[in-house]
Amino acid sequence: MSLQRLLGMGLSTAAMSFAAAAWPNGPLATSGRWIKDASGSTVTYAGVNWPGHVDTMIPEGLQYQSVETIVSKIKSIGINSIRLTYAIEMIDQIENNGGNDIPIRTAFTNALGQDNGTAIYEKVMTNNPAFGDETTRLQVFDAIAMECNKQEIYVHLDNHVSKAGWCCSPLDGNTWWGDTYFSTANWTRGLSYMADHGKQWPNLMSMSLRNELRQPLLNKELYSGSYNWEDWYKYTKQGADAIHSANSDVLIFLSGLDSDTTLQPVVENTALTPGSSTFQRADFNGYGDKLVLELHNYANILGGSEATNCTALQGDLSDDGFKALATDAPNQFPVVMTEYGFEQDSTTPQDAFASCIEEYLADQQAGWMIWALSGSYYIREGTQDGDEPWGLLTHDWSDWRSPEYVEGKLTPLVKSTLAVNGTDQSSSVGQDGGSSGNGTSGDSGAQSGPRAGDVQTSVLLALIVGLAMTCILA
Ligand SMILES: *[C@@H]1O[C@H](CO)[C@@H](O)[C@H](O)[C@H]1NC(C)=O
Ligand SMILES: *[C@@H]1O[C@H](CO)[C@@H](O)[C@H](O)[C@H]1NC(C)=O
Ligand SMILES: *[C@@H]1O[C@H](CO)[C@@H](O)[C@H](O)[C@H]1NC(C)=O
Ligand SMILES: *[C@@H]1O[C@H](CO)[C@@H](O)[C@H](O)[C@H]1NC(C)=O
Ligand SMILES: *[C@@H]1O[C@H](CO)[C@@H](O)[C@H](O)[C@H]1NC(C)=O
Repeated sequence: MSLQRLLGMGLSTAAMSFAAAAWPNGPLATSGRWIKDASGSTVTYAGVNWPGHVDTMIPEGLQYQSVETIVSKIKSIGINSIRLTYAIEMIDQIENNGGNDIPIRTAFTNALGQDNGTAIYEKVMTNNPAFGDETTRLQVFDAIAMECNKQEIYVHLDNHVSKAGWCCSPLDGNTWWGDTYFSTANWTRGLSYMADHGKQWPNLMSMSLRNELRQPLLNKELYSGSYNWEDWYKYTKQGADAIHSANSDVLIFLSGLDSDTTLQPVVENTALTPGSSTFQRADFNGYGDKLVLELHNYANILGGSEATNCTALQGDLSDDGFKALATDAPNQFPVVMTEYGFEQDSTTPQDAFASCIEEYLADQQAGWMIWALSGSYYIREGTQDGDEPWGLLTHDWSDWRSPEYVEGKLTPLVKSTLAVNGTDQSSSVGQDGGSSGNGTSGDSGAQSGPRAGDVQTSVLLALIVGLAMTCILA
């Protein structure tokens, strides 16, 4: 056999094993605190939230840019994943409509009115000529997933709400199983539906159960009788089973109480109160290695002081659940910060909260998904084309809103996050995590003014009303 042929065979064998490990090389599974691909390489999410759960139930931004342009923009700074949000109401409507989704043309006019809905639809068509009168909402989700697949970006599907709309007030009827719009049966049906539908996306790697569970403050009995860890566990198992039986490949993200700011009893292996049993991986029959924890954090969730005291904030993040990353954790898991964010402007690089939380994520070598990509919304809380000051992108989704932040802080964080990719991570801990900032001094930069976004407002509201309810119930 000639040397050339031998070399040729060697090369084709290499090519074959390379092909077998081709991106996305799933399904993913967990191993201790890491997420691993099919070859055992570590996958860490450096991601961004792309909302698709607001009133139109169509992923945002397409009246301004094409799917391809938006995905390319994300890719240009190395982002490797999107958290694509959807409403259970979309699946409810499909089920009510003989299994057929509705065209986006109809969805736009339903949400924006005949004239504005038609005008926005025409703009979406101009930017995305592959869409047509028959294109449905789910086909837009498909188009985004497939473009992400082409550009090697993972998709994480997030059930953000039941009834479509801006999230997450404790008064919005979407808070907890049994709340006005939050039917458990519709929810499990919706999770199964999306898990099954997403099988056609090669890059659907993970799904969440529910965004930001919170106090059902409109329903006193539900609040006092069900808003607890015991019921959380009951429903979490139902939702996880629904996803896993429809799609056994995806990772399943478990989110905590108080707007997903704590998973303490899971992490510490203490009683799921008011019951006495504890979290058992074996309760997730045959798929204990598919579970990932997710947490959220915003400056205004904390008391004012923690937002500027980095030591206190990082201690809280650890207690809330990030200590599940530790080698000696009673229940070790990967933990992903699936939402955190702040206003995007020229002062963002000096923001103490931003620097502190990103330094922590880098040091912990944890995954993250920043809120949010969207520079504006088709409609949010009754306002059409409202601006998103927290959006990474400008109002027309054409460029970074704060190039100073994206270039100076976010891109280095992406790099340090993606550097965690070898097959054996244990030796790299603490070496290449890299700090993206030093927030320990607490007064290193001007804390920008009152923060926009109603996630924070609603948490404050929850605390105030929660206190009032506690008094009433006591
Ligand atoms: C329709 O769009 C126009 C601008 O394009 C806006 O001024 C108007 O408020 C919108 N209508 C509604 C009902 O929001
Ligand atoms: C559940 O879905 C059905 C459609 O299948 C819908 O009629 C009903 O309103 C939904 N329930 C809730 C609480 O949204
Ligand atoms: C910051 O928080 C830490 C930990 O809670 C605390 O020990 C320290 O006194 C705080 N520093 C300031 C300046 O408040
Ligand atoms: C790990 O990530 C770094 C930074 O993105 C990259 O340069 C390197 O090629 C990656 N290594 C592997 C084995 O994927
Ligand atoms: C952050 O800065 C403070 C004050 O300059 C310093 O004492 C501390 O060691 C720094 N921490 C890190 C992680 O660089």
